[in-house]
Amino acid sequence: MKALILSGGKGTRLRPLTYTGAKQLVPVANKPILWYGIEGIVAAGITDIGIVISPETGEEVKAKTGDGSRFGAKITYILQSEPAGLAHAVKVARPFLGDSPFIMYLGDNLIENSLDPFLEIFQKQKLDGLILLRPVVNPSAFGVAKVDENGRVLQLVEKPKVPPSNLALVGIYFFAPTIHEAIDQIQPSPRGELEITDAIQQLINQKKQVEACNLEGWWLDTGKKDDLLSANQIILDSRIVASSELKVESTSQIIGRVQIGEGTEIINSTVRGPVVIGENSRIENCFVGPYSSIGDRVTMIDADIEHSVILQGAKIIGIHQRIVDSVIGQRAQLINAPARPKALRFMIGDDSQIEL
Ligand code: G1P
Repeated sequence: MKALILSGGKGTRLRPLTYTGAKQLVPVANKPILWYGIEGIVAAGITDIGIVISPETGEEVKAKTGDGSRFGAKITYILQSEPAGLAHAVKVARPFLGDSPFIMYLGDNLIENSLDPFLEIFQKQKLDGLILLRPVVNPSAFGVAKVDENGRVLQLVEKPKVPPSNLALVGIYFFAPTIHEAIDQIQPSPRGELEITDAIQQLINQKKQVEACNLEGWWLDTGKKDDLLSANQIILDSRIVASSELKVESTSQIIGRVQIGEGTEIINSTVRGPVVIGENSRIENCFVGPYSSIGDRVTMIDADIEHSVILQGAKIIGIHQRIVDSVIGQRAQLINAPARPKALRFMIGDDSQIEL
């Protein structure tokens, strides 16, 4: 069994963060989204992992993630030179996949459950395809499945205007090598992509064994700001344990589950968990409230935040109104003028959002 993680794409819905980086590397609780997927795959005992990358962000994904040794895995990078669809990515990865069955995992998906029970069903029943489904309120934004009462998949459609059900396809799929013939038989969709949804439909049309499992735990497709904040909240809630020894000076108060990286100084501040703070950051005269993730080398002085994600190198200085539900990008600066300003001065990147 191998794994294929898709980590290309342009990440248009997470702009402006994704102008300067891959969406799969945007951190959730200070760890790239992509790494949660790798860890889940390795936990299911699969260590031969291919990661499909794009020309725009591939080098960054490679540099950050490495050869897999940090995860106890072997990672092979596969370049998809154009964003021609998920099934096209499988085609490009064919030399890596060979005749092996594989898990295909979309690198911006995050799930609570272990992959083990699904892998077991896929292998025991010798399926051609196993998909995971989840009821959603906006099925038109996803691939959608119609299933019979036994869980057998009858029909799959990609982003339908009139959805046949409310069951969305989660971005995690299990395939036998028969998927390659199915991909060879499909044509590009109206949006010009080779859709994996169409390839699975092709398997169904050929009476191959395709089953669906309902995903019970949470599922986050971290494509948008609010999804990113919910992912951050859920991960901080469920997976953060307090650092065992926290060295902070007596004028500061640390309450609840808080992780603080090496070289970070917390001066005259209150941090109320769950919170993670990276390395070499400086937090002075601040309140850092629950569900905040602060990256490496962040400076925060005279500021109040909660339920927010602050990426590395950002500076927040002298903001006395509480900052909530916010995502502040790498090296961004949010600074109050020293005297009460008569005018506001901005240097704001494309697609930024400011609510004053
Ligand atoms: C892709 C798939 C879609 C699936 C979704 C899950 O869509 O095409 O079928 O439901 O991932 O994340 P995308 O998010 O690339 O638009």
